[in-house]
Amino acid sequence: MVRVLQNKRIVLGVTGSIACYKAVELASQLTQAGAMVDVVLTAAAAQFITPLTFRSLTHRPVVTDLMDPDSEQAVEHVALATKADLLVIAPATAHTIARLALGLADDALSAVALASRAPLLVAPAMDAGMFEHPALQDNLARLQARGAHIVGPAEGRLASGLVGKGRMVEPQELLGHIRWVLGKQGDLAGRKVVVSAGGTQEPLDPVRVLTNRSSGKMGYAVAEAARDRGAQVVLVTAPTALPSPVGVQMVRVQAALEMRDSVLAACRGADALVMAAAVADYRPASFYPQKVKKGPQQWVVELTKNPDILAEAPRDLIRVGFAAETEKVVEHAQEKLVAKGLDLMVANDVTSPDSGFGTDTNRVVILDKDGGCQELPLLSKLEVADRILDRVAELLARGLPRR
Ligand code: CTP
Repeated sequence: MVRVLQNKRIVLGVTGSIACYKAVELASQLTQAGAMVDVVLTAAAAQFITPLTFRSLTHRPVVTDLMDPDSEQAVEHVALATKADLLVIAPATAHTIARLALGLADDALSAVALASRAPLLVAPAMDAGMFEHPALQDNLARLQARGAHIVGPAEGRLASGLVGKGRMVEPQELLGHIRWVLGKQGDLAGRKVVVSAGGTQEPLDPVRVLTNRSSGKMGYAVAEAARDRGAQVVLVTAPTALPSPVGVQMVRVQAALEMRDSVLAACRGADALVMAAAVADYRPASFYPQKVKKGPQQWVVELTKNPDILAEAPRDLIRVGFAAETEKVVEHAQEKLVAKGLDLMVANDVTSPDSGFGTDTNRVVILDKDGGCQELPLLSKLEVADRILDRVAELLARGLPRR
């Protein structure tokens, strides 16, 4: 479940493009995340894909132009428009974009679009030549001027066999835009949240680094959850295999020293700092400019201490730390909370198979500086992120930190 999508009514307009198959995936992901998805198929789309496909995934009736105009559904499609929290048209053909720009209402989808006052998200899909045409560009500019969000198209291989700009963006990316748009009025709107993620890499020579097992998943989940609640998010990330979250300002770093500079710079004007990164406590004392060759039986590497980023962060923002422990979890986390003067400390036992490095779930305890200790059950990392942000939002609402 994704909080910002739970019980949201999303009208998904699908138009006649081969990219219809991506709309199927999108409908499935939205439904699984907790949204109520009402699909409206144009007549051309119904040539590519059947209403049954969508109905099976969304468990809701699908509106098409093929249905009996006297049926209950036919009347309901205007009600759909007024109840919708968001209207997504994906894929959107050049023809549909022109209809929307002109405000035509000659089929079910364009009638819904005209009747709706919900935010509109359009994901174009067409041949590159059509996309570049001034007529299409004018139509998109008109929609944008009215506040529509245009997502894509992406570059790549097109159905025509040519390579160019015209591919509908991937469902995962569209999902990020949908969450971003729906979350704009969330409880962190107007707030700036800095998040760090991933395991820093401390260079030894041009090909070798010292690092740790952090996957970055927890930090990325916090960044996404904060974005979903309307915050302006800066994500300072060490290298990870994860895709960049939509609507989040990315700052890519490698070593702890770079992370310190970027985090401290991002903290200017911020309301909260969530340090989910696994920062290396030590780095090699010297960097070899050339690759070190095999030599003697033993190679002793001297290490030097890295600065503590959290301890250096300004005190006039909410500061949240993470403690990855292998024993005496709460005790060690409590000591760190005090030592670093934090508002909140999120502790977890990284030896447990369902929490810690690389997993999609986490079981944590949230400690606060007043001695509070909130034990959470096993949750997805996104749900853990939301629970942490609930606490951050609560502190911010109380006007804290007051130092
Ligand atoms: N942290 C930091 N800068 C460092 C090391 C850690 O800002 N140089 C942050 C981490 O991002 C995390 C918190 O401090 O939010 C706790 O990190 P941890 O490494 O567990 O704490 P340490 O104080 O380094 O303790 P330990 O001796 O267990 O390594």
